[in-house]
Amino acid sequence: MEWIRVFSPATIGNVGPGFDVLGLSVKHIGDIVEARKIDEGVVTTEIDSPMPLSTDANKNTAGIAAQEVLKLLRIKGGVELKIKKGMPSGSGLGSSAASACAAAYATNYLYGNILTKEELVLPATKAEEQISGAFFADNTAPCMLGGATLTRSCLPLDVTKIGSISNLVIVLVTPDIVVLTKDARDILPKQVSMQNFIFNMANSCLITAAFAKDDYSLFARSLHDAVIEPVRSSLIKGFDDVKTNALKAGADGMTISGSGPTVFAITDDLKKARFIEDAMLRSFLLHGVQAKSIITEVDNEGTRVILES
Ligand code: HSE
Repeated sequence: MEWIRVFSPATIGNVGPGFDVLGLSVKHIGDIVEARKIDEGVVTTEIDSPMPLSTDANKNTAGIAAQEVLKLLRIKGGVELKIKKGMPSGSGLGSSAASACAAAYATNYLYGNILTKEELVLPATKAEEQISGAFFADNTAPCMLGGATLTRSCLPLDVTKIGSISNLVIVLVTPDIVVLTKDARDILPKQVSMQNFIFNMANSCLITAAFAKDDYSLFARSLHDAVIEPVRSSLIKGFDDVKTNALKAGADGMTISGSGPTVFAITDDLKKARFIEDAMLRSFLLHGVQAKSIITEVDNEGTRVILES
């Protein structure tokens, strides 16, 4: 084995009310990192990305995550990385987490698979922190572990996988707007009312139960966020109309993915999903916003090797 190729899926952070806590991994979209051992250091020799990304291994999340893993393994060797981005940065789909997870997993795999996937969430999250400016694992945990995950604590990092919902169909729509996570965090309120706290806590707990019980209907009833969505939706042109039209077209819920601008709607019916997707795209267009979309489902596997050569 010289080169290995690792895939890491896109993720939906927050999953509505579970700000920085709930996360969900999705199929058909993600980043690929190819890696091989070298004598020392971490180098990024190729980047295939729709957005400019630094090849300096100290400035991209893949390079930083690989260095963090080598530190944990306490070995002298290094890795060469090639990154293929399957989604743009700043899209709300956990782009920086995906590159970090793939590189962390690949580095560990090349050096004997010593660390568990759970242990690899920390180096990937540290890498993401350097780019986003905040430490949260609601993208890195589901990206690494697959399915839906929870973060109990950041320090020490304590994450757990909940489960999945087998008939959940997810319509992801990414408008052509850039929202930087840092900006989307800076506008959040410093305090919330007790009423909104209880509302979001109740819905987050029930989403957790829904993923543990594979219960679509419970998830659909619980996808409500009274704290973050009302503030961040102002960064997404057309959000209110897109949501109204998604629900009219049959969606059981719609909210922001991570810090946006991607939004996601849910249904348990693939045919309905196509109507919902069309309604959402047309609503964005009426606001002069081009958007890309994909219909997907939960990715249960998370980060994995897809090729060894
Ligand atoms: N929980 C983070 C946020 C996710 O919403 O800021 C960023 O993708």
